[in-house]
Amino acid sequence: MWPYLTMIAHRGGGTTAPENTFAALAAGLRHGYHAVEFDVMLSRDGIGVVMHDPDFGRTLPGQGSIATTDAAAIAAMDAGSWFGPTFAGEPVPLFVPYAEFCKGHGIWMNVEIKPAPGHDEATGRWVAETARRLFAGESDLAKLPLLSSFSAAALRAARAAAPELPRAIAFGALPPDWEAQARELGVLSVHVDHRHLTAAQAAAVKAAGFGLFCYTVNDPARARTLLDWGVDAICTDRIDLLPPDFK
Ligand code: G3P
Ligand code: MG
Repeated sequence: MWPYLTMIAHRGGGTTAPENTFAALAAGLRHGYHAVEFDVMLSRDGIGVVMHDPDFGRTLPGQGSIATTDAAAIAAMDAGSWFGPTFAGEPVPLFVPYAEFCKGHGIWMNVEIKPAPGHDEATGRWVAETARRLFAGESDLAKLPLLSSFSAAALRAARAAAPELPRAIAFGALPPDWEAQARELGVLSVHVDHRHLTAAQAAAVKAAGFGLFCYTVNDPARARTLLDWGVDAICTDRIDLLPPDFK
């Protein structure tokens, strides 16, 4: 069961722009992508920001952490210089305007709930409550954002806050009890690192009735193999190499 597009831009625009920024969404659109995955984490003051790492140092300059910094200060940080001088000053997006941009441009969202350590429930709850407000009145499942997480606690909190929003459980390798976890959490799809997936596992996920999403697939031959196995969605960094209508 997968009512969404097949090809999904990882962290906004993959490796064509600084991850999880507005520049990334613009790059995705330039490449014809209308489906995106991005990560959301809570700031100290409890506001969702579009960010992958809990600590500064890789995509943000200096030292510090998202969970101990207020959203206004995070939003003013430079999330682009690490990628290249052309992107200097690219801000850290807040979740709400980021999601509104996607909605306004017809970009479907896989919102990955990415809790900073120890903030699983609060992050799952905030993302679900906020997404519920943004999509109030939307009854088309294919237009609703898919809330995914590696954190079962975050997904439980998301379900309690907005049970009508579709959810997905993410794994590295599929654990032996993946199906029990997926059923307990009531997810629409299972997200896995394609490097650990076998054809038999892909068939088992599909036979169990779940959507199957693979990250992060950057080689066209591998993407073709996965689609042949029945994988529903390919999340890629190489939006410049894999077109949005890749089949
Ligand atoms: O949701 C798919 C993928 O984004 C999970 O890994 O570390 O890139 O967030 P990561
Ligand atoms: Mg992610």
